[in-house]
Amino acid sequence: MIPSTTPSMLMQIQPTIQKFARMLSSVVQLEVEIVDSALYRVAGTGMFSKQLGQKLNTNSRLLRYIIDTKKEKVVTHSRFDPLCKDCTNKQECAEKAFLGTPVIYQNQCVGVISLVALTREQQARINANIQEFSDYVRHVSTIVVSRFLQDQAGGENIQKIFLTMIENMDQGVLVIGNDQKVKFANQTALKIMGFNQSSVIGKEIQFQPLTFEDNFKHGHMQHIISFDDRKELIIGQLHAVQDQWLFLMAFHQSHSSADFSAGQEGPQIEALVGECRPMRQLKKLITRVAPSPSSVMIVGESGTGKEVVARAIHKLSDRQAKPFIAINCAAIPEQLLESELFGYVKGAFTGASANGKTGLIQAANSGTLFLDEIGDMPLTLQAKLLRAIESREIQPVGASHPVPVDIRIISATNQNLDQYIAEGKFREDLYYRLNVIPLRLPPLRERQEDIELLIHYFLHLHTRRLNLVYPGVAQDVLDLLRRYRWPGNIRELSNLMEYLVNVAPSGEIIDMSLLPPNLLSSSDLAEPSAARSSSAPASQEESVTALEEMERQMIREALSRYSNKKQAADELGIGIATLYRKIKKYDLAAG
Ligand SMILES: Nc1ncnc2c1ncn2[C@@H]1O[C@H](COP(=O)(O)OP(=O)(O)OP(=O)(O)O)[C@@H](O)[C@H]1O
Ligand SMILES: [Mg+2]
Repeated sequence: MIPSTTPSMLMQIQPTIQKFARMLSSVVQLEVEIVDSALYRVAGTGMFSKQLGQKLNTNSRLLRYIIDTKKEKVVTHSRFDPLCKDCTNKQECAEKAFLGTPVIYQNQCVGVISLVALTREQQARINANIQEFSDYVRHVSTIVVSRFLQDQAGGENIQKIFLTMIENMDQGVLVIGNDQKVKFANQTALKIMGFNQSSVIGKEIQFQPLTFEDNFKHGHMQHIISFDDRKELIIGQLHAVQDQWLFLMAFHQSHSSADFSAGQEGPQIEALVGECRPMRQLKKLITRVAPSPSSVMIVGESGTGKEVVARAIHKLSDRQAKPFIAINCAAIPEQLLESELFGYVKGAFTGASANGKTGLIQAANSGTLFLDEIGDMPLTLQAKLLRAIESREIQPVGASHPVPVDIRIISATNQNLDQYIAEGKFREDLYYRLNVIPLRLPPLRERQEDIELLIHYFLHLHTRRLNLVYPGVAQDVLDLLRRYRWPGNIRELSNLMEYLVNVAPSGEIIDMSLLPPNLLSSSDLAEPSAARSSSAPASQEESVTALEEMERQMIREALSRYSNKKQAADELGIGIATLYRKIKKYDLAAG
C-alpha cells in the first residue's frame, strides 16, 4: 500500500490524467471519473470535476469493490444493483449506469476509471456496448497510464525503452551527436534515405530547415539533409535531446500526409481546409464575395466551420484591418443583448454604467459584425436590427440622436430559418436583408473526399501544439473514419484527433483498437461508397438497399481474397449455390 502522506502515482501526474479524462469523456460521450487506489479523486468531468485531489466522501462501494477485486464492475441500473443496496447516498445518486475499470500497472490496481451515464440515452448506450466500452477503457488506460508513469520513472529505464522503441518504430529516426555525426539510424530511416548502416554511421550530416513560419519550434517541416555530396529533401522534426539530436522523419504513408497546403487548385484560404468540389466552389465564392459590402448568411450544421468562413471573409475583404466582432445571439439574455449590440448612454437605466457603453455594432464600425446563431435573436431586437441596417445608423438605449455606422454583417445559423419565419419567430424582411449572399456549408459526411486531408491537418496541428510525435494512421482506421457520419462535423473530427495523438503510443500507428467504441457502432456509419445527403433516419426501403450494398461489398471483398469460390462461400458463411446466385444478382461475375 502507498502511505497516505505521499501522493499516489496517478496523483503525481494529475494534470495529465485530468486532460486524458476530459478527452476520453468527449470521445465516448459519457462522464468520466478517475480515482486512485486510496479513493482520492484524481480527475473527472461534469459533476465529477469538483474536489479534485480530495478523498471521496461518499461510501464508494463500487469503486472499493473494483480496487479490491481488480475486476471491472458494471451497473446497468444504478440503485438497483446489490452493491447499491445499503448505500447511504442512494437517494441523491444521479448516476443511471456505471462502468468501472481497474487501472492495472505492474500487476497492481493503481486506480479506477469510471464511465458514468447520467441520461437515459447514455445509459442505453453503455448497456448496449458494455464489453466494448470495458475492453476499450482497459486498453487505452494501459497505454496512457504506463506511458506517463514510465516517463516519470526516468533514468536508465527510459534510455532502454527509448532505444528499443527507436529500433522498432515504423518512423524513420536518426540520432546525431553534437559533432554533427550520425550515431544511429533505424531501418526505416535507412530505407527512406536509401543508405545502408555502415555508410551512414560516423558520417557528418547537415540539416537545413525550410520554413516560412515564425517561431517555429516543433512539428514537421521540410529539411534539406546534406550528406557526403548528396542533398535530400525530407520532412521531419529535429529535437535537441540532452547532448544529441533526434531527427524524426514524417510518415510517408499517403500523398496528402504532410503537404496539405501545397499544389492544389483554386484559391487557398489558409484556415479553411477542404479540396472536395463543394469546398473548392465555396472557396471560390468566398474570394469573389469577400470585397462586397453585402450581407452574408452562412448556413450549416454545428461544427461545419461557419465561424471559420466568417473570419475568412473578413480577412479577404478590404475591412481586414478593421475590427471583426463576433456575438453569439443565443448566449446572451435578451435584455443584455440589446445593450450589448446597441450600447447605451449614461443614465439610460438603473444599473447602467455611469459613462454609458459603446455597443458592439458601433465597435465594429468600418469592420465586420458576425451575428452567430442569428435564429435565436428575439423579435424585438430583430426589428431594431432591421432599422439599423436600413438606415445605416443605430440608436443607443436612452440616446436622443442616432449614430451613423458602416458595418458589414455576416450572420450564421444551424437552424431552418424558413420554418422560423413560417412560425413567426423570425422576421421575413430581416431575413432577406441578411441573406443577400447565402453560403451553405456541407456537413462532413458529404465531404468524404476531404476526410483524410482533414485527419492529417488536425494530426499536424495537435501534434505541433502539444509537442508530440506525429503518428501514422492505419488504413482500416482511415476507411472507417471516411464512412463515419460525423454528427459533430469538423469539431468532432478535430477533438478525436487531439484525443488520438494523446493516447497513441509515442510515434506509433493509430489503429482500430484506439478508436472509441461508440464510433464503431454501425448506426453512425454510412455505406462505404455513397454518402447519404440527409441526416434523416433511413426509411425502410433505404435500409434494405443499404443492407444489399453491404452484402455486395462483402461478397466482392471475399471474391477478391479467394480465387476459389468455395473458400469465398465458406468465409461468407453461405452455400456455394447461394454465392453464385448473389454473384449474378450483384453483377459480380468478373470478380
Ligand atoms: N474547413 C475547415 N478547415 C479547418 N478547420 C476547420 C474547418 N471547418 C471547421 N474547422 C474547425 O472546426 C471547429 C468548428 O468550427 P466552427 O466553430 O467554425 O463551426 P461552427 O459551424 O461555427 O459550429 P457551431 O454551429 O457549433 O458554432 C473549429 O475548431 C474550426 O477551427
Ligand atoms: Mg459557431
